[in-house]
Amino acid sequence: MILFYDIDAFFSSVEEILHPQLKGKPIAVANTLSPKGVISTASYPARVRGVHSAMPLFKARQACSNCMFVKAHFSDYIKFSQKVVSIMSQFSPFLEEASIDEGYLDISGMGRLFKSPLEYGSQIKQEVKHRTGLNITIGIAITKPVAKISALTVKPNGMIYIPQEKTEEFLSRVPIKFAKGLGRLNQERLKKAGITYIGDIISVPESFLSRIIDKSGMKWTIALKKDMKISRYQRKSIGKSVTLMRNTADKKILLPILSLLSEYISERMREKNYFATHISVEVKYYNFISKVKTTGCYPTNSPNAIFSIAKKLLIPLVNNSIRHLGIRCEGLTKTPPLFMKEKEVNLYNAISGIRKKYGFDAVKFGVSISDSTRYTR
Ligand code: TTP
Ligand code: MG
Repeated sequence: MILFYDIDAFFSSVEEILHPQLKGKPIAVANTLSPKGVISTASYPARVRGVHSAMPLFKARQACSNCMFVKAHFSDYIKFSQKVVSIMSQFSPFLEEASIDEGYLDISGMGRLFKSPLEYGSQIKQEVKHRTGLNITIGIAITKPVAKISALTVKPNGMIYIPQEKTEEFLSRVPIKFAKGLGRLNQERLKKAGITYIGDIISVPESFLSRIIDKSGMKWTIALKKDMKISRYQRKSIGKSVTLMRNTADKKILLPILSLLSEYISERMREKNYFATHISVEVKYYNFISKVKTTGCYPTNSPNAIFSIAKKLLIPLVNNSIRHLGIRCEGLTKTPPLFMKEKEVNLYNAISGIRKKYGFDAVKFGVSISDSTRYTR
């Protein structure tokens, strides 16, 4: 789990702390105060009136007549930045500074130290406020890009936590403008191509995207997707998917295939003594758009449990003709759940024994038996 932080209106906030008479006023910090000088950052009251980074001073004056211009004092900003970094490093040894006012903390496996990620985040916010006077915004999510995107949606002085299973759904609601790493030009091009939300970027094929956005935009997009796959939490996973011979939206065909996939995955998990704490179902539609639904679950490796969870995830996705279907068991643990039905375990072990001897197809569960295998390849 990654916690991203970004100091709010950094340079101008430092100026307000050091010069309290500026507090709450529309102010803008710039390197030089000549009319052609460029603004580094503006306080939020100045932003409301249209003043922003990279704007020349004379334009800022036109937008906000009572804006106060302040000359930048970099040595002060560096001191505040270092103070924040030292506070952050007390919360996690895995700290990556990304710029003068933002960074990432890997907080995986820290569950024992706090009740919830939000409680942890709120302790960090309080500590930074108490020791520096600065407000920070925090985004907590499964990967670095998603943590950053989520934080930007709650600026200033906000905090947000996106549980792993809500990641896809969250991104499907976040407008492209929050994908800062893409740059303005790429954002405009995507909007013109009808791509409005960050989630759309993930489901559209790269060959299509590369015709719309430039190389740096593609780099950001690939990092967004790649990081989603290799995040710590997801690294340990077992999955299986099939491409159907014919596209279909018929549940009578899809469910037996889903059941077979569950049996196959369960077999592999039981072989390695793994239990899944998250289950995902992925579908690719006839038009190559793909969707994933994930849910947390009581640790399991039983084919019946995997199937019944996967079924619940799949049903709302069957709203279009499907060409590819898969299940992935994630968040794998070797710790057995407290409650396991002994009879059921014995039965699955017996089935595994038969399969080892006579092959996987020697035993199949009722729901998996249909002619749907004709639809798979
Ligand atoms: P940001 O974090 O982008 O901006 P911010 O902290 O002022 O405001 P917020 O995070 O709440 O949106 O940048 C951090 C600092 O870097 C900023 O205070 C000033 C400096 N900076 C520039 O000098 N020029 C720029 O164009 C930008 C964007 C930032
Ligand atoms: Mg900032």
